[in-house]
Amino acid sequence: MKTLLQELTVEVSAAFEKAGYKAELGRVNPSNRPDLCEYQCNGAMAGAKEYHKAPIMIANDVAGFLAESEIFSEVTAVPPGFLNMKIKPEFVSDYLKKAADSERYGVEAPEKPSTIIIDYGGPNVAKPLHVGHLRSAIIGESVKRICKYMGHNAIGDIHLGDWGLQMGLIIHELSVRKPELCYFDPAFDGEYPEEAPFTISELEEIYPAASAKSKEDEAYKAAAMDATYRLQHGDKGCLALWKHIMNVSVADLKRNYSNLNVDFELWKGESDADPYIPAMVERLKSEGFVYESEGALVVDVKEETDQKEIPPCMILKSDGASLYTTTDLATLVQRQEDYAPDRVIYVVDKRQELHFDQVFRAAKKTGIVPVETDLKFIGFGTMNGKDGKPFKTREGGVMRLEYLISDINEKMYEKMRENRSETPEDEARQTAKTVGLAAIKYGDLSNQATKDYIFDPERFTSFEGDTGPYILYTIVRIKSILAKYAEVGSLEGLSVQPASNDLEKELQKMLAGFNAMMSGAYDELAPHRICAYIYDTANAFNRFYHETRILTEENEEVKKGWIALLQYTRDVLEVCIDILGFSAPDRM
Ligand code: ARG
Repeated sequence: MKTLLQELTVEVSAAFEKAGYKAELGRVNPSNRPDLCEYQCNGAMAGAKEYHKAPIMIANDVAGFLAESEIFSEVTAVPPGFLNMKIKPEFVSDYLKKAADSERYGVEAPEKPSTIIIDYGGPNVAKPLHVGHLRSAIIGESVKRICKYMGHNAIGDIHLGDWGLQMGLIIHELSVRKPELCYFDPAFDGEYPEEAPFTISELEEIYPAASAKSKEDEAYKAAAMDATYRLQHGDKGCLALWKHIMNVSVADLKRNYSNLNVDFELWKGESDADPYIPAMVERLKSEGFVYESEGALVVDVKEETDQKEIPPCMILKSDGASLYTTTDLATLVQRQEDYAPDRVIYVVDKRQELHFDQVFRAAKKTGIVPVETDLKFIGFGTMNGKDGKPFKTREGGVMRLEYLISDINEKMYEKMRENRSETPEDEARQTAKTVGLAAIKYGDLSNQATKDYIFDPERFTSFEGDTGPYILYTIVRIKSILAKYAEVGSLEGLSVQPASNDLEKELQKMLAGFNAMMSGAYDELAPHRICAYIYDTANAFNRFYHETRILTEENEEVKKGWIALLQYTRDVLEVCIDILGFSAPDRM
């Protein structure tokens, strides 16, 4: 269905035509002067030159044809040539009724759904998740949900870092610690054990230890690189250990991501792209896309219009080893074969922009993906502490994601205990988790993704202001009014009525703007647009609520209309927070 503004534009355009002017002049926008009117059209000014007329004359002509309009309650032509308009309350409430009957509150399905792969998360196996992975998970999940809501076939792929040097480091460190393990015995030809020779906590200790040693000890590093090489070239023992590392680590990752309400359709990784590398490299060679530069194999990707130097994209290192660019290209080969996606969206730290520039250009130039495929990089900024520097633990170390989440949950729990000490312990803990997640996600998503932002636990967990808890609090308030009403009346079959006052009308107009907001959020792949929308909607609701005695209203019809409006507001807010990746409790 058309957006509210489109409906208004159709009406005003028709009036321009009837008055003898071209329809395109009838574009309607929300007013810049809400004190004077709700909507305005500046077409008369734009048409003055063409029609050799003073704008006010044109505006007057058009206003004449809008006097009988079903949509507008007031249309005035104001010097020098504005058309100022107010809409009828019936028009807004009818619009909401139509939207409520449609499948997704007035959001139209695309003519042809796109297949969209969203590459996000990107954790590295065997390394603990840290705050750097938080943004990719939060933003990526929301971008994926936006695509799905808009009717596309959206596929989230975690793209594990599971094939690089960190694997060799772990394997080598294990061989130092437990040389007796069968995996290191070249003569071993039995079945490898099913049980991993380590737990997740051991694994998490092994990697940093190995990484530290490799920085100090050249021989150690060489041995780790050799283990990586053996793994990538089919050594049985290395592969068996690798599988153990994967199993233990992926189970842990699944637990962590599910705590974040983040889930992936695909759990593929760099290792899955590996088998595609040889044929890809062969083709690039035989079709003459690559050349040798200082022993390495590269593709030129610079373009004439470049403002800055874009170095060639490296395909193989001089020792024949593959690199980050190689796996990303091979992953595109694989994705093309499996899904032929219309779009691939990468949600990764913005410091990796050059890498993706090179990969995208090389992929198009060499025909790995068709030229029309939209390869999109959403580079996010850094999450900083209050000091404006990248977020760290109090001791200055990298903050593990689990600790950050439990800190916020604890804070939330304490705050809620202050307000409601009688809630049973279990429920209080559960609610603190739900609200804590909203605090973290909203705190992140309400900023434009590309910008750095300050992670401020105090502000994020506040029930006031532009925060997740404020939004949830508003939803819970609505739910509690509805529950009270349900004790005396039925919640079934109610519908929104024409607004009886300005605050109610403002709220109805906000709700009618949902579909337009969603297409904007999809066009820009911008969850922050949804945050801004629900903040404004929650504010519009709270202003209405504070001025209206809903449950004690004597006119039953008016009261029912308000209850329907509350249901609508709750539903739209809940749809929005679900797209942002969190949910609301029933009480808090
Ligand atoms: N594992 C990478 C990292 O930690 C992120 C992967 C992003 N996705 C990709 N297709 N390169 O930096």
